[in-house]
Amino acid sequence: MKKLTTFALLMVSFFAAAQQETIDQKVNALLKKMTIEEKIGQLNQYTGDNSATGPITINPNKQAEIKAGLIGSMLNVVGTKYTRQYQELAMQSRLKIPLLFGQDVIHGYKTTFPIPLAEAASWDLQAIELAARVAATEASASGIHWTFAPMVDIGRDPRWGRVMEGAGEDTYLGSKIAYARVKGFQGNKLGDLNSVMACVKHFAAYGAATGGRDYNSVDMSERMLFETYLPPFKAALDAGAATFMNSFNDINGIPATGNVHLQRDILKGKWNFQGFVVSDWGSIGEMVAHGYSKDLKAAALSAITAGSDMDMESNAYRYNLAELVKEGKVSIDLIDDAVKRILRKKYELGLFENPYKYSDDKRAEKALNNPENRKAALEVAEKSIVLLKNENQTLPLSKSLKTIAFIGPMVKEYKANMGFWSVELPDVDYDKWVVSQWDGLQNKVGKNTKLLYAKGCEVDGDNKDGFAEAVATAKQADVVILSIGERRDMSGEAKSRSDLHLPGVQEDLVKAIQATGKPVVVLVNAGRPLIFNWTADNIPAIVYTWWLGTEAGNAIANVLSGDYNPSGKLPMTFPREVGQVPIYYNHFSTGRPAPNENSTGYVSSYIDLKNSPKFPFGYGLSYTKFNYSDLKLSSAKIKSNETIKVSFQLSNVGKVAGEEVVQLYLQDKFGSVVRPVLELKDFQKVKLNAGESKTIEFTIDKEKLSLYNDKIEWVAEPGDFEVMIGASSADIKLKANFELVQ
Ligand code: NOJ
Repeated sequence: MKKLTTFALLMVSFFAAAQQETIDQKVNALLKKMTIEEKIGQLNQYTGDNSATGPITINPNKQAEIKAGLIGSMLNVVGTKYTRQYQELAMQSRLKIPLLFGQDVIHGYKTTFPIPLAEAASWDLQAIELAARVAATEASASGIHWTFAPMVDIGRDPRWGRVMEGAGEDTYLGSKIAYARVKGFQGNKLGDLNSVMACVKHFAAYGAATGGRDYNSVDMSERMLFETYLPPFKAALDAGAATFMNSFNDINGIPATGNVHLQRDILKGKWNFQGFVVSDWGSIGEMVAHGYSKDLKAAALSAITAGSDMDMESNAYRYNLAELVKEGKVSIDLIDDAVKRILRKKYELGLFENPYKYSDDKRAEKALNNPENRKAALEVAEKSIVLLKNENQTLPLSKSLKTIAFIGPMVKEYKANMGFWSVELPDVDYDKWVVSQWDGLQNKVGKNTKLLYAKGCEVDGDNKDGFAEAVATAKQADVVILSIGERRDMSGEAKSRSDLHLPGVQEDLVKAIQATGKPVVVLVNAGRPLIFNWTADNIPAIVYTWWLGTEAGNAIANVLSGDYNPSGKLPMTFPREVGQVPIYYNHFSTGRPAPNENSTGYVSSYIDLKNSPKFPFGYGLSYTKFNYSDLKLSSAKIKSNETIKVSFQLSNVGKVAGEEVVQLYLQDKFGSVVRPVLELKDFQKVKLNAGESKTIEFTIDKEKLSLYNDKIEWVAEPGDFEVMIGASSADIKLKANFELVQ
């Protein structure tokens, strides 16, 4: 049997190699027929007519250019009809090279899933992969070949609006999620009907923009780059990611788009990436504004030299590369390499066999209206919700409530629940497609419970005219649910905020409602960690809902009613005040650590604020309670070629079934470089029935003990380590020491 399996595997890899060979042969044969203009055309990407995701260049010749083979790819063309129309133009070109259609399918296509940061809060890799799988199934049926996702930038600064697109602040969690998302988008293999190419972005360190201001500069040590910011990219590559996107920022003075070190040395060199790199929107041209390139031609030279294969909307390659080749500044080999990388993907997708393969009306109709997709969106949305506070068992809501007041600017919103970076499809009425929070709760409560509504106020602005009605409504109810937060367009690209407090007069509304003496539950809708200290200190129950997508209303209703027991944990630290930002749990040990929360004096602390966050990384409550006990290590010493088994008992000591994300942290006590106070190195999401106990096991190996030393070598240094098992980064339940010996 074993022999047979080995033989089968050999045959599969033989055929895979043979197929790859034929693709390479086909690419080479086609390349020989191409003029220099046609080659450069393959490196050129234009936007279509669907909602723009950057500053548009008006080009009346687009259609003629496609027919002339001068465009290799388009973005923002959605739906079978439009992708087919554009592809028909490409099929009129001399060599009939099909167009690639790319799109920001970030958290769902028609069925919108929670924003990526919310999904990360699920810590559920299967759920995250499923969300990407469903998105790929819908997008690929609608003519899309390629999603500009996953975004794997580490986000340690909630002022940066794009933290909503990523997996949060942690490298380990972010790497696992990056891997899962790529697998989800690309499925079994490129070329399958329901797979889209992934595009890992933004390479690199875009999330470390100074001051949290989008597009701003990044200055970072090589060690920090390798240890904290690059691993999620590498994980995505290991998952087979077909493409990468570079980033807008400069890093240590060199724009990422023209950065040889990032793209040639690391990505295509050290990591041997065989796919292609697309620039970010206009980022080749922006090297002029950076003051790095004197004009568009110089920018084109830098970008192609550095390894940016495709030019998104800069028109830099289209108008300059041929001349640069003629002048001998760019070798034709460099162009050929970029073209080959792109053509290879077009072959792998099967576009040369059938350029309309993914634009199939019947398949689209079925995929976009598949009830299973909504079911998946509901499941993932439930898992993404984080219960931040629940005093006096305010939640779940009692089934015998007679009247509930549902108050706030989010209650009756539909589209808002989709968050930023949802795909706008022209023929979908999102007000009907999305379940509002009101509709969700209305469908949930029985006939004997009356739901009352008042808006109270807008998300922003200083108008309090609606307060009186809201207070009067609250007074008639047994319990009040207040749904507040950011507007959906307050996070996302170009949505940096210097103030992270709840916008407008919303916290005043919370105070006014609290003053009625009624039990209050606050739902916070947002694309980033917000600051709401008064609410956090005074309101008994707080649920962080982020933006949950198409099934938002049902997911929230299931949590409020207890039909789903919340299991999410924060993937980002929540600060007390903006002054603490950037704030993240795995900071270095300083030489003068503050002995306690309130220490001042000559220690590393603020004189006007605690060091600790309001809510720590990894934190989230459940309707049940978990007990951690009996930590055991298989050995107190480990050699670098050995492993240690860590085990403990997890018990559900509450009254209902629930899921707990158990987190394993390590601290390297001494290193040749300063180490973080603790680092997440593993986790499991465990489901236990009421009263059930389970032995949980983790394995520690050399990989988990390694660090980048000052020579940027990945090494495990002998010495003492502490292993910590926690319910969050700030709630360590069990710990023990061990030693790594030579
Ligand atoms: C700019 C964004 O930075 C990038 O993430 C996105 O994929 C492109 N625009 C295309 O919309």
